[in-house]
Amino acid sequence: MAAVKKSDVELRKESHIKVCLLEDVESDVSSGFDDVCLVHHAIVDLDRDEIDLSCEFLGKKMSAPLIVEAITGGAKIAEKINKNLARACEEVGVGFGVGSVRAALVDDALWDTYKVRDVAPTIPILSNIGLVQLIDEYDIRQIKDSCKEIGADGVAIHLNAVQETVQPEGNVNWKGSFERLKYFCQNLGVPVVVKETGAGICRETAIMISRAGASMIDVGGLGGTSFSMVEHYRDKKGQGLLFKNWGIPTVCSLVECRQAVNTGIIASGGVRDGVDAAKAIALGADYAGVALPVLKAATRSHKEVVSVLSRIIDEMRSCMFLCGAGSVSEMKKKDVVILGKTREWLLARGIRMDNLSNRESVDALREKVKF
Ligand SMILES: Cc1cc2nc3c(=O)[nH]c(=O)nc-3n(C[C@H](O)[C@H](O)[C@H](O)COP(=O)(O)O)c2cc1C
Repeated sequence: MAAVKKSDVELRKESHIKVCLLEDVESDVSSGFDDVCLVHHAIVDLDRDEIDLSCEFLGKKMSAPLIVEAITGGAKIAEKINKNLARACEEVGVGFGVGSVRAALVDDALWDTYKVRDVAPTIPILSNIGLVQLIDEYDIRQIKDSCKEIGADGVAIHLNAVQETVQPEGNVNWKGSFERLKYFCQNLGVPVVVKETGAGICRETAIMISRAGASMIDVGGLGGTSFSMVEHYRDKKGQGLLFKNWGIPTVCSLVECRQAVNTGIIASGGVRDGVDAAKAIALGADYAGVALPVLKAATRSHKEVVSVLSRIIDEMRSCMFLCGAGSVSEMKKKDVVILGKTREWLLARGIRMDNLSNRESVDALREKVKF
């Protein structure tokens, strides 16, 4: 029997996964979490195992402020990855985003590679599409339908200008993109998360996204997976290598966005353990997001993904215990000291950090501490 020929979309999706599994696709620049110090509290009135990490995302309960970020869809291997990821997210109680649904908008037969509600009936799930594709490729009805097809609670609109720029055939005409973002945010009828994909969001862009009416910003900062490098390994003729370290490190982006807007924020891009995630929460993120750390596990089994996610949550719990924070809302009030290059960046941008490192005056603390 002749082998079934794979479509270009399927081949591209497979090659993204293969490159991320086999090559070093992370930027050389730090996400900035190493520059962030949480203040250790040597006496705490807490039982580590009773620390409450529960929260809500898109109106649904989660056991911890953690989201598995958009990775894939549109290929056979993607179906297995999405099922393993979603099943694990359901078991652990965290949110999940499918990869761009563009493949299924081109070929209806591919919706099955995104559908995970049979294994993840209760968790928050995000559909996903690129902003540049919304300029003139797809209309609002198609994106609304994508939510119905996969049972999503909201849509992540991704920003990937770096990826488009470094590819010889990338889509580099972004004229009209902000107007389209506004139109989609205001008319989709479901919450919209606007996410970067590894180059971060500056405060000016955060204000635009918030004014457009998005429910949430996912900073998707520099310091983790570099899509520039993914494209470099796929086609060495482009500018991928040159732009490997382009962007705003995750911590810089998170602090910029937090100071500029009141919108909910997801911190992603180089979040590699629960200490990074806890630091993100203390810096003002509402959730932390991971992609690359769960990819290899997802090609194997949902159990392996459960083990990665459980480790991250457990590390967050330890970190909160050592800071004396009994809940996510308490963690948001803990002092954070920012050093090194991240501090230099923030000072150069005119951002003061004493509202992070001295959240309460010593006099107020003396009044409060009644041990
Ligand atoms: C293989 C792979 C495919 C991805 N595909 C998408 C996508 O379709 N849509 C999207 O918004 N982000 C996509 N991303 C970006 C991630 O959602 C995330 O923003 C980025 O990888 C940074 O997180 P990390 O450093 O934890 O990997 C992809 C990431 C990986 C590793």
